[in-house]
Amino acid sequence: MSVIKLMRGDITRLSVDAIVNAANPTLLGGGGVDGAIHRAAGPQLLQECQTLGGARPGEAKITHGYNLPARWVIHTVGPIYRGGESGEAETLSRCYENSLCIARSYGLRTVAFPSISTGAYRYPIEEASRVALGTIDRFLRECSYYEMEPIIVLHTEGDLQVYIENAEEMGITYEVQR
Ligand code: APR
Repeated sequence: MSVIKLMRGDITRLSVDAIVNAANPTLLGGGGVDGAIHRAAGPQLLQECQTLGGARPGEAKITHGYNLPARWVIHTVGPIYRGGESGEAETLSRCYENSLCIARSYGLRTVAFPSISTGAYRYPIEEASRVALGTIDRFLRECSYYEMEPIIVLHTEGDLQVYIENAEEMGITYEVQR
């Protein structure tokens, strides 16, 4: 069974099968990692996104990567954090689950995730990292026949440390890629 890789870096620079974008329901770009991905991919990404018809929180849709080193971009819409009592954890988990299911259906192996919803959408990274790690770990165990190599790319050292500490606490097998 594969392990979850954790690293600090810029997701737009990764030469992987797919990177996951923390998008908004329009799927037409924004700030944060969404803005960085669109800037790096070039205008054709937006053109393809305009054909998708948006997405609801928890859903995921795939496009080509264009000028990115990644071949594909999986756009998913995370929940806006409203205190944790409005189903945010379930929605966030669906972002990871649906992105991994799309990757599997396309026969992709290396899939890199940002820390979805922990920026503009204000999801506390302590809780969000547990949802992310738990969902990805469960997918790897349930689909152990399929060699998926998930990577979580943190933008800061501090965020990386939170994921490492929670992976340890949850007893999840991981590897830090420096
Ligand atoms: N590589 C990896 N991670 C990044 C990068 C990058 N280049 N840029 C930002 N991040 C990290 C942030 O530090 C944060 O931990 O991505 C995480 C998600 O933050 P946001 O990009 O703000 O995404 P989110 O919190 O899901 O909010 C989505 O913001 O950009 C808009 O259009 C987007 O409306 C949507 C909302």
